[in-house]
Amino acid sequence: MSIVKKPNVKPANPNFSSGPCSKRPGFSLDALKDAPLGRSHRATIGKEKLEDTIVRTKSVLGIPEDYRVAIVPASDTGAVEMALWSLLGPRGVDIFQWESFGKGWVDDIKNQLKLDDVREFKAPYGQIPDFNQADFSRDIIFTWNGTTSGVRVPNGDWIAQDREGLTICDATSAVFAMDIAWGKIDVLTYSWQKVMGGEGAHGMLVLSPRAVERLESYTPPWPMPKIFRLTKNGKLIEGIFKGATINTPSMLCVEDALDGLKWAEEVGGLSGLITRSQANLKVIEDWVSQNNTFDFLAEDQATRSNTSVCLSITADWFQKLSAENKAKAAKRLVTILDTENAAYDIGSYRDAPAGLRIWCGATIEASDLQLLTPWLDWGLDQISSKFK
Ligand SMILES: Cc1ncc(COP(=O)(O)O)c(C=O)c1O
Repeated sequence: MSIVKKPNVKPANPNFSSGPCSKRPGFSLDALKDAPLGRSHRATIGKEKLEDTIVRTKSVLGIPEDYRVAIVPASDTGAVEMALWSLLGPRGVDIFQWESFGKGWVDDIKNQLKLDDVREFKAPYGQIPDFNQADFSRDIIFTWNGTTSGVRVPNGDWIAQDREGLTICDATSAVFAMDIAWGKIDVLTYSWQKVMGGEGAHGMLVLSPRAVERLESYTPPWPMPKIFRLTKNGKLIEGIFKGATINTPSMLCVEDALDGLKWAEEVGGLSGLITRSQANLKVIEDWVSQNNTFDFLAEDQATRSNTSVCLSITADWFQKLSAENKAKAAKRLVTILDTENAAYDIGSYRDAPAGLRIWCGATIEASDLQLLTPWLDWGLDQISSKFK
């Protein structure tokens, strides 16, 4: 017997996917009407758009003046792998991972690049590894926000200012939502499709002067695909960091990225975006604190993500299910909410514990999350009778 009344109002925008994430409020294709379609990306108009994207990115994110920013192929994965392939080798590597994507970078380093001096520090879903173990004479690799566990690093305090190795950070679901300690970061990557609700396929690569120094003084022993090449004859190809991309970008996606950045400026820049995202998380926090059927997967509040908010189902009946039935029940909940057009794509990531993942980045409206929570209560109640 169902006891929770079906809500009668749905979120105006039910897109709560963790990537590609919701477009900004008020977005329509009309916003892309100035895209120089059918024109060369190397024509003045194309180059200007690409450079404008880099300049606005630096300004919104508060990236230090002497850091370089490039638009690169293959989304965040492309940017991360370009960095790993170009920079790793001369020093030992410490890698910190606590969810699916970080684990993928370990695989790259150990099994593809076959580096042998690698120390791996890991933690299960919901937790974070012990960063005190980092040895800053080595290269350090970590993810700022673990998108599939909803666990983030609280800050960059643990990173040595006077390090010898490089810090390489996959920040794809953190930038534009969390304060990045830029002085502590040598390489940072992300993709447009995440926090800004942009399109897939393009990655962003941010390099500190120390990372550039490494690029210019070290040649990796393995073959380097053209798509990864950042130097020529031992010198950085500066044009890449001014919008002369390695290969052809989509000017439609570039226009969309620019639209996102202009919106960010309108809502108060980085602090405006962070405020929006934190207000979104607060809606979920308030709701979780008032029920005993859902809880955060992140065990420590300081590590709780304000973008990819991952929830465990803690209802007694659910806890008693086998792992297989937990996965089935969570999937059914997600399907019910999808069918009702109340929420799309809120299932936990395929490798993560069964539960929900609700995107709370800046492009989401707090009012939509407020309308979503009664649907979560209703949906869970609906499926409980089938599994109890
Ligand atoms: C932490 C993290 N790294 C890497 C990726 C891969 O990003 P992309 O598909 O943009 O290459 C994702 C995507 O969700 C992610 O969350």
